[in-house]
Amino acid sequence: MNIAAGAETNNGRLADKPVILQMAELARFPYRSIGDRFEVIRYWQIDEPNAMLARDGAKVRGMIAAGSQRIDDVILDKLPNLEVIANIGVGYDRLDIEAVARRGIIATNTPDVLTEEVADLTVGLLIATVRRMPQAERHIRDGRWAKSPFPNSPSLRGRSVGIVGLGRIGKAVARRLQGFEVSEICYCGRTRQADVPYRHFKDIREMAAHISVLILTLPGGPETKGLVDADVLAKLGSDGIIVNVARGAVIEKDALIAALRDGAILAAGLDVFWNEPEVPQELLALDNVVLLPHVGSASQKTRAEMIELLQDNLFAWFEGRGPLTPVAETPWQGGNGE
Ligand code: 8YV
Repeated sequence: MNIAAGAETNNGRLADKPVILQMAELARFPYRSIGDRFEVIRYWQIDEPNAMLARDGAKVRGMIAAGSQRIDDVILDKLPNLEVIANIGVGYDRLDIEAVARRGIIATNTPDVLTEEVADLTVGLLIATVRRMPQAERHIRDGRWAKSPFPNSPSLRGRSVGIVGLGRIGKAVARRLQGFEVSEICYCGRTRQADVPYRHFKDIREMAAHISVLILTLPGGPETKGLVDADVLAKLGSDGIIVNVARGAVIEKDALIAALRDGAILAAGLDVFWNEPEVPQELLALDNVVLLPHVGSASQKTRAEMIELLQDNLFAWFEGRGPLTPVAETPWQGGNGE
């Protein structure tokens, strides 16, 4: 198959524009065409990606990282002239960032523009989970209200909340929770942050034993995989509530299902899953879990700002201005771009 079949091209031919490999469709993003600035190869539309990479991989100078395709040595080996990877989202766990950094490739993400939106969703999901709002709505829709009142729900009041990952989003969640009558806000992380008024725990197990709401806003990836296991859930306890807007893999799937099923914890609010868009059947069958289809940042406004920042990173790079929001592992030292 010719590269032109999956590319934004002039008359089906690659012109002298930087070639960008886009890994997946940005279906829920208000996409602005960048075809006037770049030749875009739509990877997910290519029938034989390996053949395309063997033939055209050396032409690729930029990448839009999206979807579930892992960006590691296997694909990077085929892109010897790749300069910049623009990742959609603040989380860039789809990148093997060590491999990217080792090759001197710059990676960018989309921080800040989504912080407040994700924090709103997190608090909304927390309240929906504690007060059982989706279940209450189902009570009406199923015509059950006239027959029986909806049972009283648990309460957020007086609970001690622990945040794992007190970065930009975690802090925005904590700020919001200061307006609620929670008894204490804690966080856990390797180092104490001097500028926050919240109680610090080094160890998630210690914190889990102290709190009854666990909120996960930490980065995904190998370092945090399975961080919340059966022991953490047991320490959170039978009144414990967990809210995950980070990445599915941060929680051990079977441990969570068992804890929800057996009452080892009270409830969970999940915006992220292990193999999206798959949701385990066991969770669908449970009444003490609120499920959202990874919509933390998914407002029209925020998604527009994310795609704009992603594209502006590419524009800036190829205009020789350097990346706007490089990730910590690939800082820009100047000198790249055109
Ligand atoms: C996006 C996210 O939905 O920013 C993130 O890390 O998880 C979300 O905002 C996702 O990155 C889109 O692929």
